[in-house]
Amino acid sequence: MRIDILTILPELLEGPFSASIMKRAQEKGLAEIHIHNIRDYSTNKHKQVDDYQYGGGAGMVMTIEPIALLIDKLLSERKYDEIIYMTPDGVILDQKIANTFSLYENLIILCGHYKGVDERIREIYITKEISIGSYVLSGGELAAAVLTDSLVRLIPGVLNDETSALTDSFQDNLLSPPVYTRPPEYKGHKVPDVLMSGNFELIEKYREEQAYKRTQERRPDLLK
Ligand code: ADE
Repeated sequence: MRIDILTILPELLEGPFSASIMKRAQEKGLAEIHIHNIRDYSTNKHKQVDDYQYGGGAGMVMTIEPIALLIDKLLSERKYDEIIYMTPDGVILDQKIANTFSLYENLIILCGHYKGVDERIREIYITKEISIGSYVLSGGELAAAVLTDSLVRLIPGVLNDETSALTDSFQDNLLSPPVYTRPPEYKGHKVPDVLMSGNFELIEKYREEQAYKRTQERRPDLLK
């Protein structure tokens, strides 16, 4: 999978992809993440990428031209499955969306800033608008990193033990059961006996019950 991320703050995206699973996915050649600085495509002599909004009001708007030039360049090089805009008024990201997107070959993710992008960018280019939650971030970069992470870890071969993505919370609309490691007792809190029983049938049953119980208590909406 190739992901092209379009941003005016590329430095915000250096960290998330340079460690752990995201780094390994790129080293294994399973994910290619390209960060593009929108400012490099500004033809303005001050490299400006924003302007005042028509109709007045506080906050700048990201201008069409540099974003359009960059997207047109990418579109001339390959076909993209989706051109995604990260925005608080988009569809809320969930595991189902992550599963769907993880099957794609090429994605563009546009990060917004200030008041957002000129609406015509959305009309002309954007095929999906995604929010990572009902709160406003300073820009779309952290949201793009969250989306990218949620997709890349689902690409077959990225996780060492492929079943570990299948048993993630939400994969079957259930939260994950509690997990334990050594020591068997800490400050009077014991690991449940069944997990030490060696009886895999009982362990599986316990985990299913716990996943269901946890979902009912914390996210009953997932069971509907
Ligand atoms: N940009 C600013 N806030 C955002 C959010 N909640 N989700 C996606 N992009 C955003």
